[in-house]
Amino acid sequence: MSDWVKVGTRSELLPGEFRVAWDGDTAIAVYNIDGELHAIEDVCTHDGGELAGGPVIGHEVECVRHGARFDLRTGGVTCPPAYEPVAVFPVKEEGGFIWTRDDR
Ligand code: FES
Repeated sequence: MSDWVKVGTRSELLPGEFRVAWDGDTAIAVYNIDGELHAIEDVCTHDGGELAGGPVIGHEVECVRHGARFDLRTGGVTCPPAYEPVAVFPVKEEGGFIWTRDDR
């Protein structure tokens, strides 16, 4: 298990925004949804598309490649063509920063 990686400050991740942090080879997309922070692996399980930057509808992100959707809270698929969930990662706030890590 890796150490926590710094995502940024709250002022750098305002409601409706996202940031991508790297934990080793893992790209983690961290979203601020109405003040709640959620982190998912930034890889669509359908065919490897990046999820960060795709439209966010409520608590769901849509892959721009073929339209699969994932729940940012659980990683679960809410719309095909993906069928496997994306990994979700822990998020914490400490020392004035937001942190996440690949805890697999
Ligand atoms: S790569 Fe994401 S829907 Fe196909």
